[in-house]
Amino acid sequence: MSSVSVRVPGKVNLQLSVGGLRPDGYHDLVNVLHAVSLYDELSARPGFGVSVTVSGTGPEGSEGSEGPAGSVPLDGDNLAVRAAYALAEVAGVPADVALHISKGIPVAGGMAGGSADAAAALLACDQLWGCGLGRVELDRLAARLGADVPFALSGGTAVGVGRGDRLTPALARGRFHWVLAVADGGLPTPAVYAECDRLRGSRRAGEPELSAALMSALRTGDAVGLGQALSNDLQPAALSLRPALRMTLGAGREHGALGALVSGSGPTCAFLARDEEHSIDLAVALSGAGVCRTVRRATGPVPGARLTTAKAA
Ligand code: C5P
Repeated sequence: MSSVSVRVPGKVNLQLSVGGLRPDGYHDLVNVLHAVSLYDELSARPGFGVSVTVSGTGPEGSEGSEGPAGSVPLDGDNLAVRAAYALAEVAGVPADVALHISKGIPVAGGMAGGSADAAAALLACDQLWGCGLGRVELDRLAARLGADVPFALSGGTAVGVGRGDRLTPALARGRFHWVLAVADGGLPTPAVYAECDRLRGSRRAGEPELSAALMSALRTGDAVGLGQALSNDLQPAALSLRPALRMTLGAGREHGALGALVSGSGPTCAFLARDEEHSIDLAVALSGAGVCRTVRRATGPVPGARLTTAKAA
């Protein structure tokens, strides 16, 4: 086997309800995750030790530029590198692989790009090294690597509880059309959760509960109902750290978005369009309004990490 490639989607959160801070530093969540057609491509080929290179991260898709590109670590902090080491240890094989990640998911954008890369690395290395780990074992490893990693393996639409990593697939009908406003720079997830705690002060967080209206809109493929039911408890924190996002959300609403919210910990904003045509209009309007770095269109739900090529030597 000379090279294995995996394609993995990013996600938006349809509901992110944040409970109290737990002793382990995480928060109890009810998290409805929805995989959308914005992808990272990861390739794995034989190497010595684990190395990683990254492309497509700069403001214009350039490498090594200032801003978001700088925030993808190329060392042991890279989640894909950590995934490769974790898999090698569990499978009892040498950790030898050269990884390359081509980013299509905004870096530190609240769309779980790092988690997506970890999931892709697990799948690619499992194939390259011939480990043959089953789905249960891969899911267990994924959960060790981060709260959003198991979802990047499964994709679709799912409800996550606990840290957000205990997943149940959600029944969803049809295809939803999204417009994503990608901001300049990223927001570190731990900082956004910390700001959420700070804003709450001494107020006790209630027990997070799954929205029945959201589940019903998903079951019936009702875009209007879905737009009304979207919610994100991290949004006030993201807006506090990045006040300019208010303008981004306002511009999307003004142009008829059925729903507008910060995706996860932000700063990417997600807008639900009525249909494909409306998503084109909305994307054009948001580009013209100058309220974000770049605009992308995507549909969801889409499947999780998938092998795209496995070339024999
Ligand atoms: O699991 P992951 O590494 O993606 O989480 C990143 C950070 O987000 C955690 O270190 C924590 O600060 C915050 N987090 C949280 N509660 C969760 C998930 C993430 O506080 N359920």
